[in-house]
Formats: sequence, C-alpha cells, structure tokens
Amino acid sequence: ILLTVLALLASYLLGAIPAAAWVARGRGVDIRKVGSGNSGATNVLRSLGKGPALTVALFDILKGGLAVWLARTLGLEPGWDGLCGLAAVLGHNFSPFLRFRGGKGVATSFGTIAALDPLVGASVFVLGIATMWLTRFVSAGSILGAVGAGLMVLVLNRPWWLSAVVIVLAALLIVQHRENVRKLQAGTERRLGERVDEQV
Ligand code: G3P
Repeated sequence: ILLTVLALLASYLLGAIPAAAWVARGRGVDIRKVGSGNSGATNVLRSLGKGPALTVALFDILKGGLAVWLARTLGLEPGWDGLCGLAAVLGHNFSPFLRFRGGKGVATSFGTIAALDPLVGASVFVLGIATMWLTRFVSAGSILGAVGAGLMVLVLNRPWWLSAVVIVLAALLIVQHRENVRKLQAGTERRLGERVDEQV
C-alpha cells in the first residue's frame, strides 16, 4: 500500500511539472497572460510558435505515459496504472507549482490513454488531429477525441477499470474546456494560426 501511495504521489508531482508555463517563462512570456491564458501546448503554439509548442506537447504526453509505466514497473495491480495516469493529469490541471491551476489535460490524458490502450490511443489521435485540421479548433479536436475515447472503451468492452479511468479522463477534459465550449458557441474561439493580439 505504501508503494501504491508513493506511485500515485510521484505521478501527481510528475504531472504537475508545468512545461508550458516554464518554457514560456524561459522566453520571457507569462503564459497565463497571453492568448487563452491556458498553460498548454496550444497556447504556447499561439504565443511562442511551433518549436516550443512541440517540446511542451511531447513533454506533457510523456508525463502520462511515464506515470503508467511507473505503476507497471513497480508491479502494481492492474488498474493502478490507470489511476497513476489520472494522478498525472490531475497534477497537470491542478499544479502546486501554479497555485493549483494548470492546463486542460489534453496531452497528458492522451499519453495516459495511449500507454494504457494503444489502439484507443491511436484512434483518438487520428480523430483529434483530423478534427483540429478540418475545423482549425484545437479545443474541438480535444473534446471530440475525449468523447471518442469514452465511446471506444465501451464499444470494445474493455476491463471495467480501464473504461472507468478513460471515461473519468474524458469527462475531466470536457469540464476543463467549458470556457472553450462557451467561446465556440459565441463564435469567439481562436482558430489555429490566428494571431495573438488580445490578452485574456
Ligand atoms: O490544449 C488544450 C486545447 O484543447 C485548448 O487550448 O489554449 O485553445 O484553450 P486553448
């Protein structure tokens, strides 16, 4: 039990590393004060460009994957790998390094799901990227990817604990996008490639 608690704590702290905020700060930008104000790769892309955004996206994906890997390497019972991934996402979204604020958990949830279930991971990757490409809304791709992941685990009849973790991750991601949903409805959501000329 001690090992399990330590793994959850380590996953939470790993997820809490605010790559977007720190990469931006390294370039003299306060990520919470530009674009959407979100500490995530999309907002880094908007305010700093492709290179830093890719770094942040890969790092945030890795946080989810590493948390799953940690649980498995420690030989924890099946199910704890999913909970460690969830802990990493919670760390990312509610980071102690950012006064318990953070990102929306897209990359870290994806890393977790891809590590837990590569087929579901690959499918939602294609669905998410295709939606982002077609609509130019990263938020729409993220939300559709989350819905897709939740539906897939049910259709594929995955073990209950895997389905539960994926559905909780999807629900959390959608809740974190409430502001984006509001902007999509109002027609004020920023599209990919749109200039950042406005502060939140
Ligand atoms: O990376 C999260 C994405 O789905 C939305 O980000 O900055 O447009 O709110 P943002």
